Amino acid sequence: MLFVPDADGGRGDWRQFRDWLVRQQLCGFRRLSPGDRWHLVHCPGGECRDLGHRAPGTSLAALAPVREEAVMLSVRVEGVSFAHGAQTVLRDIHLAARPGEFVCLLGPSGCGKSTLLRLLAGLERPDRGRILVDGRPIKGPGLDRAVVFQDYSLFPWLSAGENVLMAVRQAFPDRSRAFHHETARAHLARVHLEDAFDKMPAQLSGGMRQRAAIARALAQDAPVLLMDEPFGALDAVTRTVLQDQLLELWQGEGQEEPQRKTVFFVTHDVEEALLLATTVVVMGTRPGTIKGVFAIDLPRPRVRRSLYPTVTFQTQRQALVDLLHQGLPLDADRAA
Ligand SMILES: Nc1ncnc2c1ncn2[C@@H]1O[C@H](COP(=O)(O)OP(=O)(O)OP(=O)(O)O)[C@@H](O)[C@H]1O
Ligand SMILES: [Mg+2]
Repeated sequence: MLFVPDADGGRGDWRQFRDWLVRQQLCGFRRLSPGDRWHLVHCPGGECRDLGHRAPGTSLAALAPVREEAVMLSVRVEGVSFAHGAQTVLRDIHLAARPGEFVCLLGPSGCGKSTLLRLLAGLERPDRGRILVDGRPIKGPGLDRAVVFQDYSLFPWLSAGENVLMAVRQAFPDRSRAFHHETARAHLARVHLEDAFDKMPAQLSGGMRQRAAIARALAQDAPVLLMDEPFGALDAVTRTVLQDQLLELWQGEGQEEPQRKTVFFVTHDVEEALLLATTVVVMGTRPGTIKGVFAIDLPRPRVRRSLYPTVTFQTQRQALVDLLHQGLPLDADRAA
């Protein structure tokens, strides 16, 4: 069982965990009376319940918000600019993803792909412009958007299985403990980590950690999936298997297209983008801007062996590589 520390009593990893709960809008800080110490409170639907000094032993399951039914969501980025101090990282970004689109973001290192994903996740606020999910401006992180970060961020104090379990509990708060465990194990098995349930992140390789992070994001079952180079650290075989699994999941065997997740997927790999995407967005650098948006109408299912040698695929690949290189010194791009 996990315990939520009170607002000023948490230290080290607990403080990270507490901050994560706040970012996920599962908890907030409140003073119960003027001059009182800060308390961590649970805010399901805005109704706050004290989890502070008087009730420090609340289990994580009690923190899980009621999950809305899975829906398809559109995402719009309207005139977003963002700076880190004096450095303008993104300038006037406009993007629109219809519900169920698979958008791949391609661009040279440092052009602001991760920054854009953090903005979409609600972890940063735009300096100008706004981001709408399902027509509503986002105000912070939310359970409608699952994120796989570039640096495979698992909670280091939880085992791989517990990391995934946390997402399953959030997604299905009303289901049984047995269901939670079974689902978490199934998600780990999908990324070939069935034996790693009890392993701590420090005991896993970088690629294994990334796979566990992917399992956790998929377990959240959010309608919007934000993935930052999720397969970048993986060996070629695992990468191929996970690309296919992601496509299967997104295509939704037996489902209608409108039930698909809306995906934003950062990659440096042009072939990966062409294999996965309905839309490829090519970004330029200094500051990050959009160089081009391309609808990828290659037929599905996209099977590497038959797709890659085709003239259409090779032509589109070359066009994307050329655009990526345009205006860049030769050694500044890892994309080709
Ligand atoms: N926390 C930060 N503080 C200051 N500058 C930052 C911070 N995070 C990113 N930057 C800067 O913002 C720019 C964009 O970074 P970002 O990580 O979004 O690039 P990226 O396109 O994801 O690159 P890569 O392909 O290497 O992952 C870079 O110049 C980077 O140095
Ligand atoms: Mg990045």
